[in-house]
Amino acid sequence: MTRLVELEATGPRKLEPSDIDDEKGDLAVCQCGLSDSFPFCDGSHRRTRDEDDEMTYVYENGRRREVERVVTADDTDEKS
Ligand code: FES
Repeated sequence: MTRLVELEATGPRKLEPSDIDDEKGDLAVCQCGLSDSFPFCDGSHRRTRDEDDEMTYVYENGRRREVERVVTADDTDEKS
């Protein structure tokens, strides 16, 4: 599966000891790109559980779409 996500950060976010979850005693970093608390996991990855390995998905405005291909501004196919 391929997933397109839109991120606006332009630099790193330093993690601090205060970022550790007091109850769990750990810190979970989002790897799916869908967290509203990015860079921290907020459980949004659950939305990806039924993604098909052969599909490409775009998540926008709380909705998921399947797309056949992504075309860049220079008209290059990223996946077909
Ligand atoms: S890994 Fe992205 S929200 Fe959990």
